[in-house]
Amino acid sequence: MTTPTTTIPVGGASPYDVLVGRDILNLIGESLDRSVAKILIVHPSTLGARAAALRESLLDRYEVVLAEIPDAEAGKRIEVAAFCWQVMGQSDFTRSDVVIGFGGGATTDVAGFVAATWLRGVTLIQVPTTLLGMVDASIGGKTGINTAEGKNLVGSFYAPSLVVADLDTLHGLSQMEILAGFGEVVKCGFIAEPEILDVIEAGVDTATDSTSAEFRRVVELSIGIKARVVSEDFTDRGVREFLNYGHTLGHAVEYAERFQWRHGAAVAIGMVYAAELARLTGRLQDSVVDRHRSILTSLQLPTDYPLGRWNTLLAAMQRDKKARGSMLRFIVLDDIAKPTVLTGPDQSLLFAAYQEVGV
Ligand code: GLY
Repeated sequence: MTTPTTTIPVGGASPYDVLVGRDILNLIGESLDRSVAKILIVHPSTLGARAAALRESLLDRYEVVLAEIPDAEAGKRIEVAAFCWQVMGQSDFTRSDVVIGFGGGATTDVAGFVAATWLRGVTLIQVPTTLLGMVDASIGGKTGINTAEGKNLVGSFYAPSLVVADLDTLHGLSQMEILAGFGEVVKCGFIAEPEILDVIEAGVDTATDSTSAEFRRVVELSIGIKARVVSEDFTDRGVREFLNYGHTLGHAVEYAERFQWRHGAAVAIGMVYAAELARLTGRLQDSVVDRHRSILTSLQLPTDYPLGRWNTLLAAMQRDKKARGSMLRFIVLDDIAKPTVLTGPDQSLLFAAYQEVGV
């Protein structure tokens, strides 16, 4: 039985929809304007066969070119963007043509960057194929590439015209990848949508089974939060910062682990740390901090980290671009769904919270 597609609108200066459903890749072709002649599908090598199938499904009406790029962060390089521009140039891509980002968050980031820059911007359709991509990276128009000096240092805000989150594209993923994606889902639960936490607690196996109604529910709720936040603050000057819950320490853990850890695992530790900061500053009750640990543990996500790494983590946090000015900034909770910013906490507090997380 086919289930109906859910449409989640994203507002702002360039509004668009996020479509969520199963077996809905056909909606990409249906959404396209008559003036479109060519489509570039940017995809990682791991999705070669599926990108070829998507191309095949569009070939009766369009000229479709594939740009296979390296998987994950290796795809977010200027050389990769230049390769895509070359393919577009050789195919005589015009301003009325379309780029599709088909892959995980790294692929949709670089595809977005290519679309934003070709002829000063062509239509972009994001088709995320990972949970992290669906609930976070593909929505909100952050596009970019890395440089030798750091991640996401070059990029732009460039809204897609459509995001198609087809839950069936998740089927090939390992359970570990799905669980890592839950880092961002849990984040949405704590900053804005307690129902997500309730669904996970009611049955973690069902909630993380990508074929279940519960999984779809938490994905849709998470997308709804992201959509609401970026509609209000597209350029990340206000409430969008709340999406960084767990990310200040999380990014530092990713750095300390030389980017070998999954993002969701690093953010999980970061959320427990932020919860401890909130508890130590008298904001958050013990029970809510405990709830962080129990939910993340039930998802097999880490909640502690070696004590001896504190100096490395502190140095990395101080370098992070989210440390605006000279002050470190943490998103903390006054309660569930009540995020706020903690600016410039002193080092003794930072270390005291780390002692609660460190082992
Ligand atoms: N991933 C955080 C944001 O889109 O702002």
